[in-house]
Amino acid sequence: MKIIILKTAEEIGVEAAKIFTDEVKNNPSCVLGLATGATPIPTYKNIQKTFNEGGITFKDVKTYNLDEYCDLPKADKNSYYTFMHEQLFNGLDILEENVHFLDGNTTDCEAECKRYDDEINNAGGIDIQLLGIGNNAHIGFNEPADEFTTGSFKVKLTDSTIEANKIYFDENPMPRYALTMGIKQIMSAKKVVLIATGPKKAEAVRNMIEGPVTAQVPASILQEHNDVVIFLDEDAASLLKK
Ligand code: PGA
Repeated sequence: MKIIILKTAEEIGVEAAKIFTDEVKNNPSCVLGLATGATPIPTYKNIQKTFNEGGITFKDVKTYNLDEYCDLPKADKNSYYTFMHEQLFNGLDILEENVHFLDGNTTDCEAECKRYDDEINNAGGIDIQLLGIGNNAHIGFNEPADEFTTGSFKVKLTDSTIEANKIYFDENPMPRYALTMGIKQIMSAKKVVLIATGPKKAEAVRNMIEGPVTAQVPASILQEHNDVVIFLDEDAASLLKK
């Protein structure tokens, strides 16, 4: 694990964005795995900034998002489909047919998950996967469990995740289920970039980096990935011993 500790979330946004825009420059038809939540917003702002400065196109880039809530209309302000368009895609020249999501409104979750996994495989797999981390060390919506998951699946969100994300749902109740890529699938990305900022992430970060590899700390599996960069601000890094 390559661990980079910077002072602010803004600085991390600049550095993390560089990894993605360099990939797009060097490999214009790359496949990116993307994440939602508050953490990647500065990264997305900086990807848009580099795009606006010119010399880079996303026309041949494909993206696959990690997860999506179940039973939330695509157009809802809290769907990850809406989040990604508002925070990133609307500011790029990426083609709508090249941005991909799990369909949380499907009536056949199993078939939908298989479709998504097959599409990622047919696209050649993910070149760089961006991740945040939950307060409970989830990645995607892979909550603490007895076993590491494999491909995409439907998950019941834990109380910890509902507590962390319900602030965004001011009118309607937050969905209790989501579809998410699985852990083994995330691990098959050629490169992984994980960002954690703020004091609430400190314990999860310590367990991910310094604890044993266990499905109870889903992000700890990243210790076994051979190309992972972890960006931390000082608060998120505050419980690390080394
Ligand atoms: P956050 O979510 O970026 O909103 O903290 C991260 C996550 O749950 O993976």
